[in-house]
Amino acid sequence: MSIPSSALPVAATRVLLGIGGGIAAYKSAELVRRLRDGGADVRVVMTASAQQLVGEATFQALSGNPVRTSLWDAEAEAAMGHIELARWADQLLIAPATADLMARLAAGMADDLLTTLVLASKAPLWLAPAMNQQMWAHPATQVNLSKLRARGVSLLGPAVGDQACGDVGPGRMLEPGAIARAVLGACSDDVELAGLAGMPLLVSAGPTFEDIDPVRYLGNRSSGRMGYAIAEIAATAGAKVTLVSGPVSLATPAGVRRIDVRSALDMQAAVDAEVQGKVAFISAAAVADFRPALVSGSKIKKGDAELEVKLVRNPDILAELSQRADRPFLVGFAAETEDVEQHAREKLSSKRLDMIAANRVGMHGSGFESAENALTVYWNGGDAEIALADKRDVARQLLALMVRRIADRDGHNQRGVAS
Ligand code: C5P
Repeated sequence: MSIPSSALPVAATRVLLGIGGGIAAYKSAELVRRLRDGGADVRVVMTASAQQLVGEATFQALSGNPVRTSLWDAEAEAAMGHIELARWADQLLIAPATADLMARLAAGMADDLLTTLVLASKAPLWLAPAMNQQMWAHPATQVNLSKLRARGVSLLGPAVGDQACGDVGPGRMLEPGAIARAVLGACSDDVELAGLAGMPLLVSAGPTFEDIDPVRYLGNRSSGRMGYAIAEIAATAGAKVTLVSGPVSLATPAGVRRIDVRSALDMQAAVDAEVQGKVAFISAAAVADFRPALVSGSKIKKGDAELEVKLVRNPDILAELSQRADRPFLVGFAAETEDVEQHAREKLSSKRLDMIAANRVGMHGSGFESAENALTVYWNGGDAEIALADKRDVARQLLALMVRRIADRDGHNQRGVAS
């Protein structure tokens, strides 16, 4: 996968790439290429197990720098000591990160060169896990993962799919292009999105499915692409993104923590559980307004000529959230077929939102199920047009607007306190 040059920074970012002993290490050769294509200066450190799987010479040739494998290599230490190497790095990236490496990192061990470098460096740490799906699911790995996350480590993947061992499930290393984009994007000098670096963000995306019986449900035509694009661009700019997703067939963007839900009630529970500590919530999900009053436990038979399904209102997740004292900055979406501004402004005030992004649905080539979108964004006292473009471009512009509005609000509050 090639990286669009516009998405990458110009300045040379110094990436220390640690390679663990997983079979996905063969993809790390491509990763070095992708990082260098993006302008990064790359130095490689291999664990002892990685050396059993891939060759040092490959990484030396691709990175253009000597490869380090041991703490005890006197010649290498004389050239660049390990503390110097730890200080050199702007970003630490471990790909593949094996279960064993993650356990040693979680325990704070420094029993080889790579783990020692991690402890000796202040640079952000990215892990691209790769392991058998059973090892990934094991409670020991999951506990290590939570510890690492709590320390601010960014996870890239793993992806779900076929594994080298023949299993299918979560544990595949993300593709090198996606890893490089995430790591280099986070050091991108995109001034407009710079305010997103380190910002905890909650995003919802996709439809909700409201079950009628074990085989039927009420759904809607949301593809989830707009919300996923927002999550991807925000994570690339360094935000800590949690994505609450309805049922969609999209891959989790690199660096994003994803929570899958099905119904509006599930989504509300997940949003409520995750919202604390978030600076903003962007609600791009198309939440069903109604659900069947009763869900039949068995498949409804087509005996009668007519079937009546009684529907009851779902809670309005955003409107209820906006009543909370600790509410984050709230961004809603409004899909309208007519009188867009009037309806969007009504929702802005009735749901007490900070911003609302409105799109006209039913228009050819934009909105639901489309790769492109056009939005008009409203807030109290202002609005902005985002012209028809790829959803990732639209997401970028929407996030830039949001960052500006949050900065304005914070500046205003500070002035208010001072005066
Ligand atoms: O459906 P409606 O046009 O009211 O949606 C506007 C916004 O409210 C969207 O951001 C949507 O995610 C959110 N919403 C919600 N809970 C609902 C319905 C919509 O949070 N039950």
